[in-house]
Amino acid sequence: MDFSLKTGEPRRQRTECAILPVFDDGVLRGATAAIDRAAHGAIKKLVRAGEIADRLGATTLLHRAQGAARRWLFVGCGKHAEFDARRLAAALAAAVAALRASGTREALSYLAYGVDSLDAERAARQSVEAARAQLYRFDELKSRRDPPSKLARLGIGLAPGADAAAARRGIEVGTAIANGADLARDLGNRPANVCTPTHLADAARALAKRFKKLEVKILSEPDMRRLGMGALLAVTQGADEPARLIVIRYRGAGAKVAPIAICGKGVTFDTGGISMKEPPKMDEMKFDMCGAGGVLGAMAAIGELEPACNVVAVLPACENMPGGDATRPGDIVTSMSGQTVEIINTDAEGRLILCDAITYAQLEFKPRCVLDVATLTGACVVALGHVYTGLFCNDEALAAALGAAGERSLDPVWRLPLHEDYAETLRSNFADFANSGTRDGGASVAANFLSRFVNGVPWAHLDIAGVAWRANSQKGATGRPVPLLVDFLLASAAQ
Ligand code: BES
Ligand code: MN
Ligand code: ZN
Repeated sequence: MDFSLKTGEPRRQRTECAILPVFDDGVLRGATAAIDRAAHGAIKKLVRAGEIADRLGATTLLHRAQGAARRWLFVGCGKHAEFDARRLAAALAAAVAALRASGTREALSYLAYGVDSLDAERAARQSVEAARAQLYRFDELKSRRDPPSKLARLGIGLAPGADAAAARRGIEVGTAIANGADLARDLGNRPANVCTPTHLADAARALAKRFKKLEVKILSEPDMRRLGMGALLAVTQGADEPARLIVIRYRGAGAKVAPIAICGKGVTFDTGGISMKEPPKMDEMKFDMCGAGGVLGAMAAIGELEPACNVVAVLPACENMPGGDATRPGDIVTSMSGQTVEIINTDAEGRLILCDAITYAQLEFKPRCVLDVATLTGACVVALGHVYTGLFCNDEALAAALGAAGERSLDPVWRLPLHEDYAETLRSNFADFANSGTRDGGASVAANFLSRFVNGVPWAHLDIAGVAWRANSQKGATGRPVPLLVDFLLASAAQ
């Protein structure tokens, strides 16, 4: 879909459909008020007669015989004082759903017109992201598909005084984030018999072909063995599908500038291994690669936007399967760091592949900070539900930067504790430590495990187990945390 900025007078802008906000106090504002004046109070009359629903997300479509807009689509925006970027996104999503259903080809949104609390860049960026997320469909594996959306063009109407350069930048950033989020959603939604470690590696190679500042290197199991990645190899050894370690470099700054390293969990299917999971919802464990998928999406957006920073993604990808060769509970392996791990529970596999990725990222790239992104624990879902990503961080400045990026991008994080006492449950009589302990505080226990592989560098662990996909009738990957990661990377490049 094509997005463009419109700063002309609303009553003169020709469009197939003007998207107009209405608030629950009945007062017409912004472009709705301007168009109402030009139409001699027609909208006011409709509002008074109760013809227009003002509840947040409610839509009312009216056909017009005259005027510059052939139709008006009113969108309920709730309380005016509470209208913010989040509500803008929700209102526009509702509008786009209605436009799609009505077969509209082109429309002009006035939802952010004259809203003082929203700067032009944010307004444009959130409009693009919300519209694109609403139009996303995953039907590549259906033999009968819904007809494609006819909605090809969306104008973003801002007041004549708005900062046009900022708005255009917002459209550019929003489009790149939406492209990256769509990639993350596609990879997440593909079943594990399609989205294998090799498939993820191919997706990374395709990005490097498309974006000139991205470079890809794929390590295979013999490479991992040479590097001493005993923890990663222990997870993949029960699977027939070969593991991959995907390394993507983005060079947007000088060679002397240390990169930001981002590791992403790429378990393309998590059966639990010998410590096998129960059948209910096990199909959702195809989403256990959403850490890697989200990082791939973020790298795609960065490749498109070309900010002045260096980034390296390290994505361990494998399956966690039972089998004659599979790791047994109690097996002890040596990680790339040299530390030995007793694998008490083969279902605590994410930390095993990430610990070797984190060690590799530090030794190979001397990064200025390390992030890891993973659908790591059910405990994080219990703690934060499906709203916040869990953030664990050893550095206050990094935590603040991620917190701010989460707020700006509407992809928020909530900090959870790192504390060395969580180590107690990981004690082992036979190895340096175990890979799992008590269930209590499980998200922090997992973070504590990872922290032992971080050597004097700012580090943040993002547990996205609750936010990377939706279950039940809405089942599907969300594209999170692509907006968070891209916002964070752009902000670090600007410094
Ligand atoms: N991929 C799962 C975590 C998960 C479970 C995410 C359910 C979303 C929904 C992870 O590999 C796992 O199995 N974690 C275990 C750890 C435990 C064995 C210490 C968990 O959370 O139960
Ligand atoms: Mn598991
Ligand atoms: Zn897992």
